[in-house]
Formats: sequence, structure tokens, C-alpha cells
Amino acid sequence: MLRVPPRRRAHAIAALAAVIAAALPAADHLPSTAAVATVAISERSPAEIAKLLGTPSLDAIDYPDGVAPSAREVTLGKTLFFDPRLSKPGTMSCATCHNPDLGFGDGMALGQGVHGNRLGRNTPHLYNLAWNRVFFWDGRASSLEEQALGPIQAAGEMDMDLPGMVARLRGVTWYRDEFTALYGANGLVAENIGKAIAGFERTLVSRNAPFDRWLAGDAAAMSPEAVRGAQLFVGKARCNACHSGPNLTDESFHNIGTGDADAGRAKFVPGTATLTGAFKTSGLRNVLLTAPYLHDGSEASLEAVVRFYNQGGRKPTTDPLIKPLGLDGGEILDLVAFLGALTDPLRVDRPQVPR
Ligand code: HEC
Ligand code: HEC
Repeated sequence: MLRVPPRRRAHAIAALAAVIAAALPAADHLPSTAAVATVAISERSPAEIAKLLGTPSLDAIDYPDGVAPSAREVTLGKTLFFDPRLSKPGTMSCATCHNPDLGFGDGMALGQGVHGNRLGRNTPHLYNLAWNRVFFWDGRASSLEEQALGPIQAAGEMDMDLPGMVARLRGVTWYRDEFTALYGANGLVAENIGKAIAGFERTLVSRNAPFDRWLAGDAAAMSPEAVRGAQLFVGKARCNACHSGPNLTDESFHNIGTGDADAGRAKFVPGTATLTGAFKTSGLRNVLLTAPYLHDGSEASLEAVVRFYNQGGRKPTTDPLIKPLGLDGGEILDLVAFLGALTDPLRVDRPQVPR
């Protein structure tokens, strides 16, 4: 299909609207020529798109202590995140699965535990969780502090008991000194291990993608394809009905029609049929780096995800927002280009794990 570039279309419509307006008597209720053009092709300005999506504000991070953690606490948390001592056999750290070189995922459809066992779900990325209030695909944790102690103890993940972990870290001079300096003489306890790790995770912030520079007024920051994709995202494809706000998530749960056996959110909120097969809306910042996709890792590429939505999902769902979108091949690629324009990789140098 031949696609008329939106800008040329906008000019044509604006010109037509101007002719019509000039031919009519002036009246207050007549829409301005600009409004006619906007409504006719539902093209939104960067300022309008910023109201629906936007750039995350550092001021909006809700730190549990009311203030950002100190650099020293972040370094402690980062060191713990990369330390395989947190797993029973001493072979696996958080970063084994949440690998900074793979967008804080592991590049696999489903995660793999410390005993070589396959996990039931895809390893999610960790970008911009500082603004989040629900964690895990099914939302079963409500803070990063609480979340961090989960994988350590899970038999299928790091398989480490908390007293054993604390005893192991107390045997390391550097940890003893750092915990004492930050949390006091009896500070080396599981709760503060979770706290330090969470403090590090809140520094994994991505907010200077081409999309952010475009929102800030740099019209050349995004390719024409990505600009059309942004219009589709908030327009014809309605992605922002769920992927809303600066991190592109409503932090709610939806069944998008993956149709596997995983009950998802329903396991924690029983008696709610619509939550069967519903999972947390993924934040989409740096999504290009975090393939494969969805809670079951069932889609290998961003193009595949968009094609999935374009079909109206794979299996029937009661969510009224999941239905065939009628996007043509060019529009699918425009959406992929927009998702790519959300990329702002973070450089995370691996710390030296103390002896
Ligand atoms: C064996 C691989 C593995 C290890 C090790 C691991 N994780 Fe995960 N992580 C996962 C998987 C898989 C999920 C999704 C599980 C689910 O939702 O049921 C997850 C989910 C998370 C989430 C929730 C993200 C979100 O968007 O809700 C956070 C945060 C997280 N992990 C942090 C950590 C930290 C911190 C550590 C180390 C203490 C760690 N993980 C160790 C595989 C792993
Ligand atoms: C009805 C709400 C809803 C709509 C509409 C929606 N999404 Fe999603 N999106 C979700 C949920 C929920 C997930 C996680 C679902 C799962 O894993 O089962 C998700 C996951 C994704 C992922 C995978 C992220 C990852 O890290 O695995 C991408 C990419 C994505 N959506 C893009 C889009 C695009 C592009 C559109 C518009 C064409 C769109 N979404 C429309 C709710 C929605």
C-alpha cells in the first residue's frame, strides 16, 4: 500500500480546512484550522504526547527513607547484586539472571535456576523500577526491599537460607565494615541486605532516550518512522491504554491473550476471572535490549510482539482492548521503530567482589 507521509497529509488537510474556514462566516464554535487538521488525522504534538507518556521525573521517585541512598549504600547494594555468595553453591548472583549486558535480563525465554533447572517465567529487565509499586509478573511483591529476598531463598533460584547468607557475609571483612558504617554495629542482617540491593536497583534509571530528546523539542532526535510509531502508539494502536505514563506502564494487570497455563495475577487475587492469565504491564524503557518478550518468553522480537497485538493476541481474552488492530506492514515497523527510540542503555561497570 502506498503511504502518504503524515506531514504532507497534515499540510493538505490544513490547507483544505483553511479554504473551508475562509468560505464560512466567522463563528465561535468553528474549530480552528489547526484543530481540524489534528482531529482529522489524530496527529498529536510532542507536548500532547508528553502528557500521555513523558520523561520520568527524578523528583517523583518515592524513596522509602524519603531521600536517595548514599553513594556508599549504592556501592554496597551493587556489590551484593553481583556477588555469587548470595546463592547456596556460590555460583550465581542476581546479575547472572539480570545481566546488565543483556538489558538486565538473561536473553532466554524462561529463566534458569542455580541447579540448572528451568523456571516458569521469563526474567524481566530492571529498568526504572524506582517508580514502580508492584513487582514480579503477578505483582506479588510490593517493594524492591521485599522483592530482593525472594530469589535468594527460592529453592529454584538461588536456594540460599537467610541465616546462612548473613553468616557467610559476616565472614567477609569488607561487608562487616560497610554494614557497620551504614547501619550500625548490628547492621549486617537480611533486612539491610534487601535495603542496600533495592537502593542500587533504584539507580537503574533510563530517561535520556531519543524519545525524551524529541519530547524536549529536538525534532531530529527520532527518525520519521519512530515519530509515526509514537503517533500510532497513542492513536490507532492504543498501546498507551495500558503502557501509559513516563515508564510506559499502568502497573496494572491484563490478559493480553498469550493463552498459556499460568494463572498469573489470579493466584493472588482469587475469584476474579478477568485476572486469570493477567500479568503486569511491562515498562517499555530499553525494551529493545531485553528480548525475548512476555512473561513466558514466547515472542522473540519486538516485531513479533507488535504482530501479536495486531492479530488481537494468540488466544481469546476478555480484555476489550485486545483485538485486531488492522495495522499494515509499514505501520508495524513504525511501532517497532518507536519502541527502539525508547533505548538509553546504562553503563554499569561490574564491581570487584570482596574476598
Ligand atoms: C535464577 C535467575 C534469577 C536470579 C538469580 C534472580 N532473579 Fe530476579 N527475577 C527472575 C525471574 C524469572 C523473575 C520473574 C519472576 C516472576 O515474576 O514470577 C524475576 C523478577 C525480579 C524482579 C521484579 C521485576 C519486575 O518488573 O517486577 C526484580 C526487582 C528482581 N527479579 C531482582 C532480583 C534481585 C535483586 C536478585 C538477587 C537477589 C534476583 N532478582 C535474582 C530471575 C532471577
Ligand atoms: C490491554 C493492555 C495492553 C495493551 C493495549 C498493550 N499492552 Fe503491551 N503489555 C501488556 C501486558 C499486560 C504485558 C505483559 C503481558 C504478558 O507477559 O503476558 C505487555 C507486554 C508488552 C511487551 C513485552 C515487554 C517485555 O519486556 O517482555 C511489549 C514490547 C509490549 N507490550 C508492547 C505493546 C505495544 C507496542 C502495544 C500496542 C500495539 C501494546 N503493548 C498494547 C499490556 C498491554
